[in-house]
Amino acid sequence: MAGPLLPLEGQQIAQRGPTEAVESPPRTGATSSDIADPGLALTGQPGIAWAERAMPVLGMLRAVFAREQPFAGLTIACCLHVTAETAVLIRTLTAGGARVHLAASNPLSTQDDIAAALAAEDAVTVQARAGVDRGTYYEHIHRILDSAPDLVMDDGCDLVNTLHEERPELIGNVRGGSEATSSGAARLRRMAAAGSLHFPVVAADLSAVGRMVDHKYGTGQSVLDGILRATNTLVAGKTVVVAGFGPCGSGVAERARGLGAQVIVTEVDPVRALGALMQGFRVLPMSAAAPLGELVITATGSREVVGAADLALLPDGAMLANAGHFDVEIDVIALAEVAVEVNRGVRPYADEYVLADGRRLILLAEGRVVNLVAGEGNPAAVMDTSFAVQALSLAWLAAGQPADAAPNALDRVLDVPEDIDARVASLTLASLGTRIDTLTEEQRRYLESWRQGS
Ligand SMILES: NC(=O)c1ccc[n+]([C@@H]2O[C@H](COP(=O)([O-])OP(=O)(O)OC[C@H]3O[C@@H](n4cnc5c(N)ncnc54)[C@H](O)[C@@H]3O)[C@@H](O)[C@H]2O)c1
Repeated sequence: MAGPLLPLEGQQIAQRGPTEAVESPPRTGATSSDIADPGLALTGQPGIAWAERAMPVLGMLRAVFAREQPFAGLTIACCLHVTAETAVLIRTLTAGGARVHLAASNPLSTQDDIAAALAAEDAVTVQARAGVDRGTYYEHIHRILDSAPDLVMDDGCDLVNTLHEERPELIGNVRGGSEATSSGAARLRRMAAAGSLHFPVVAADLSAVGRMVDHKYGTGQSVLDGILRATNTLVAGKTVVVAGFGPCGSGVAERARGLGAQVIVTEVDPVRALGALMQGFRVLPMSAAAPLGELVITATGSREVVGAADLALLPDGAMLANAGHFDVEIDVIALAEVAVEVNRGVRPYADEYVLADGRRLILLAEGRVVNLVAGEGNPAAVMDTSFAVQALSLAWLAAGQPADAAPNALDRVLDVPEDIDARVASLTLASLGTRIDTLTEEQRRYLESWRQGS
């Protein structure tokens, strides 16, 4: 690869001047890890090595970061799924000079052997044990915040939110962060609108390359994979209802159709609904779709998308799965209330709810994000792209604030700079051995000019 990656080509970076230097709060805690079993460290290594093979872009970035040290002397607090792919990212950040404190963004997706392997590494502490309760989950977030981070990396906004709400003394030290998911970015935007977000966060979910590769193709495939692992059901011939036709929902709908399902889409956005219709999907409101749904998959980022009224309509044997970030899309509380009997674990990650009228509904992964709980999440190759976007975004923030940003830039949720998207797409193409054309000078001039017509 030619040339250094940082600073990014054409990207103006304003360095923090000496007068703006922020005095760091004391770094008190997070010197030790809280993991299930340090003895699992060796068990986790092969999984990380396997993921590394499918993550060539992070491999390239690691080499550049090792040379350029964009995070030298900086502490990064990460609240991410503790998986093999995340381990590859963490190694990329530490190669760039960072000290990393990692907490799990979902206790159900934590892989204890990966947590142990990472905790054994220099410059990394890990606060993650599979299946911990809500209290411990937040305790772990506080432990990584004890490190008084310079940068944060979030997946769902719990870290950034906790930092602002409960540890405001740390805000001044933070140069910025990145957020991986749409739901997290939506929370950030609400914080920013209320004037309550006090450092810039790059919303990595909106990166063009991320939305395409990660949400549509990665989630589209891995959600079906998680459902199949949990149920071993035959999708062909089934009526599958997909709620939400964003990048995730459309990816899920396309994969379900590819497996032979008749797919119904529900939406609240007329443009997205029209898009689904034009792509040949049947579009119905949930009240009309629910009675037909043999497999219902939510991917909206909203709540009670399958609510109590819909539960009353579902056919006997219907399976319910959620692909959205939070476990509120299927009204699990209402389901428990109407059930006269609950048979937990009829298969791993599948619970059967028997209703008073005799219908049996199967809830997968307790209504949590099914591809992470019942499957392995997105394939490593997909995470390679998304994590590369986030690693480069953090390096960009580490180098200083965007010079051309509005005065209130510090309160904003930032888009991924176009250069980063283009850079990651180019590296991914290169890793796949795919070459593309480049504009000739004449073509570039033609496209930039408004004087030339036909
Ligand atoms: N499982 C994963 O691996 C994974 C990966 C990325 C994102 N996500 C999560 O999946 C969810 C969707 O992501 P996205 O990028 O497609 O988001 P998006 O916001 O672009 O799309 C969501 C769509 O759902 C629609 N919607 C909202 N409320 C609805 C309702 N009540 N009924 C029907 N449709 C409704 C919206 O109009 C929108 O078109 C988010 O929660 C995101 O965090 C999951």
